[in-house]
Amino acid sequence: MAAMVSIRVNGVEMSVAADVSVAAALLNAGHTMFRRSVTGAARGPVCGMGTCFECRVTIDGEPGRRSCLEPVREGMRVTIDA
Ligand code: FES
Repeated sequence: MAAMVSIRVNGVEMSVAADVSVAAALLNAGHTMFRRSVTGAARGPVCGMGTCFECRVTIDGEPGRRSCLEPVREGMRVTIDA
C-alpha cells in the first residue's frame, strides 16, 4: 500500500499519495480547474513539466506556485480557484 500524506485544499483535508505532485493529487481528486485567467477563463495543467504555468496555485500562502513541480508533503495548504 502506498504511503499517504494529508493536505488541505481550500480548507478541506484530503489524504493523497505521498509520492505525487500537487497537480497530480488535485487531478486525482477530480479538480480540473486550478485557477482563472485574467479574463476569467478556467485554467488547469497542460504540460505537466513546468513550462506552461497554467497549473499555478497558492501553496502555504505563496501564490503562483507551479503545482506540477511541487511534491505533496504532510500538512501542505493548497488554494485553488474552485
Ligand atoms: S502544468 Fe505546465 S507548468 Fe505545470
